Amino acid sequence: MSYLFGVDYYPEHWPKERWATDAAMMREMGISIVRMAEFSWAKWEPREGEFHFEDLDEAIEVLAREGIDCILGTPSAAPPAWIIRQDPEIEPMDARGLRRHFGGRHHDCQSNPVYRAHIRRFVTAFAAHYAKNPHVVGFQVDNELGNSHADLCYCPSCTARFQQWLKEKYGGIDALNRCWGTAFWSQQYDDFSQIDAPRQTASGYNPSQMLDWKCFCSDLVCDFHKWQADILRAAAPDKFITHNLMGFTEKVSYYDLGKQLDFASHDQYPGGHFRPRLDVPIADTLASELDFIRSLKNKPFWIMEQQSGITGWDTLGRTPRPGQIALWATQCIAHGADTVCFFRWRSCTFGTEQYWHGILPHNGEPGRYYREIKDFMHQTAPVLAELQGAMPKNEAGILFSYRQEYAIDIQPHHPQLRYLDHMKTYYSSLYRRNIGADFLPEDADFSPYRVLIAPLQFLMTKALSDKLHAYVEAGGTLVLDMRAGIKDEHDLAFDEGPLPGMLADLVGARLTEYDCLREMDGLVHWDGKEYPCHLWSDIMDLTTGEAVAVYDKAV
Ligand code: GAL
Ligand code: ZN
Repeated sequence: MSYLFGVDYYPEHWPKERWATDAAMMREMGISIVRMAEFSWAKWEPREGEFHFEDLDEAIEVLAREGIDCILGTPSAAPPAWIIRQDPEIEPMDARGLRRHFGGRHHDCQSNPVYRAHIRRFVTAFAAHYAKNPHVVGFQVDNELGNSHADLCYCPSCTARFQQWLKEKYGGIDALNRCWGTAFWSQQYDDFSQIDAPRQTASGYNPSQMLDWKCFCSDLVCDFHKWQADILRAAAPDKFITHNLMGFTEKVSYYDLGKQLDFASHDQYPGGHFRPRLDVPIADTLASELDFIRSLKNKPFWIMEQQSGITGWDTLGRTPRPGQIALWATQCIAHGADTVCFFRWRSCTFGTEQYWHGILPHNGEPGRYYREIKDFMHQTAPVLAELQGAMPKNEAGILFSYRQEYAIDIQPHHPQLRYLDHMKTYYSSLYRRNIGADFLPEDADFSPYRVLIAPLQFLMTKALSDKLHAYVEAGGTLVLDMRAGIKDEHDLAFDEGPLPGMLADLVGARLTEYDCLREMDGLVHWDGKEYPCHLWSDIMDLTTGEAVAVYDKAV
C-alpha cells in the first residue's frame, strides 16, 4: 500500500451534496489518501455513549468510490462542551494556577483520569467501528501533540503524577534533595507530597526541578499517546499509527514518541503567518526539520499537512508565490517524504481557521493553488513512485538532545543563546555545502558517521562520555563546543577537576576562564583571516591539543 498524495479533509464542514464533487476533484488531481475526523468529537458522540458514525461512514464511502482511502484522527484535542460542563476539572491549568477554558482547542489535561475515561470510551468505540473498514488504513492519535498548550498543565492531577514520576526516578526523598540541590534557598522536602509542579514563583526557579519537570511533561505526552495507541492497536491491529509531528518543537521528545509510530509524519508550513517574511530564506531551517523527522525512525516519512495557500488565524501570512507550494513539497520529497498530504482541501467559511486557506478557496471553485498543486502532482507522481523507500546515506551526524535543549533553555547563559539556533548554525553550514546530515539521539550508533557534531553538550554522563571517546578512538571526527561537560545529568555543576571534565582529554585543553560576550562581539584569527565570535568565549590552556584559531582583543 503506498500513497503519493493526500489531503486533509473535513467533510463535516460542508453539505453532503458536495462530497461527491470533492472526491471526484481529488481523484482528478492525483489524491489517493485523506486524513479526517480529528476534531469532531461532538459530532460523533453528541451525548455520552451515543455514537453517530453514520456521516463519517458515508464520507468514507463517497471517497472510496473514487479510489481514495483514509486515515482517521482520534478527536482528543477538542473534547466537546458536554464533557467539559460535566467534568470541568479536565480543563488544563497554567503556571499561575488559572484554568484554560473551552472555546479553542486543546482545553484538556492529559493526565486527568476522568478525561482518560471519556477518551477510552470514545476511542474504543471508534476503533471497533472502523477496524474492519478496508478504506480506513490508519490512525493518527490526537493532533500535533505538544502544540497548542500555551503552557504545560500544572493542575492537581498533573502535580500528583509528577510526584509519582519523581518517586519512581529517585526512590527516596533524600536522593531527590541531593539531586535537586535543595539546600539552596531552603527548598528541602520531607516527602514527595510536598513537591509542586513548578508553578509561577515569586522569584527564580530551581534548574534541576525544571529539568525534571520538562522531562516529566514529555513523558506524560508519550504516555498519553501510547495509551490511546494501545486501545487502537488492540481493536484494529492491521491499521498503521502515525502522528503529525512539528519539526523541532520541544515539549515532547520525538525520539520517544517516534518509537510508538509505524512511521513519522510532519506538518510543514514554510510561509505560516508565524513566519511572515517570505523574503527571508529559511530553506535550511525547513530542511533541518525534514532531516530530523526522517532521522527519528531512520526511514521515509509522510507530510501530513503541507501548506497549500495563505495561512492565518486572526492575522494572515503572505500568499505563496507562483510555484512556491510545489517548491516546498519538492523539498519535502528530497529530504525523504514518501507521501505528501496538503492542508486543507477547502478554506473553511467559519471558525478560528477561516483564513487558513486550503487548496480550494471558500467558494469551492478551483483557482491558482488548485491548478499549481494538480500540475505538481501530475508531474511529480512518476518520480515520487520511483523514490518510495529511498534513503540518503549521510556521513555527517548532529547530536541533538532534548535534555541538553531543556537545560540550556532553562539557563541560556547569554540572553540570545538558544540551543536550537546554535545547533542550526552547524546544520546550515553543512547545508550550504550540500552535505547531508542525520540527527542522532545520545543512544544512537555514531559509528556510521565520519563527522559527529555535538553542540552544547552541557549535561555530561559517563555513558555519553564513553560513547564519545569510543567514537573518536575508532577514528571519528568529533566537534565539541562551549559549555561541554559542565554539569551532571541532574543539572548540578561538577565539583572536581578542570573543565571540560570528562571530555578534557578529548579536547586536549583545560578551561581556565570563560566570558559571556554581552553586548559585544569577540574576534578570532584563523588561517590568516579574522572572524567575529558571538555570545561566549572559553579561555583555555592547551594540554595535548593544538590551537588552530586564537582570540584577539575584543572590538
Ligand atoms: C496545524 C494543525 C491543523 C490546523 C493547522 C492550521 O498546526 O495540525 O489542525 O490547525 O495547523 O492552523
Ligand atoms: Zn493537568
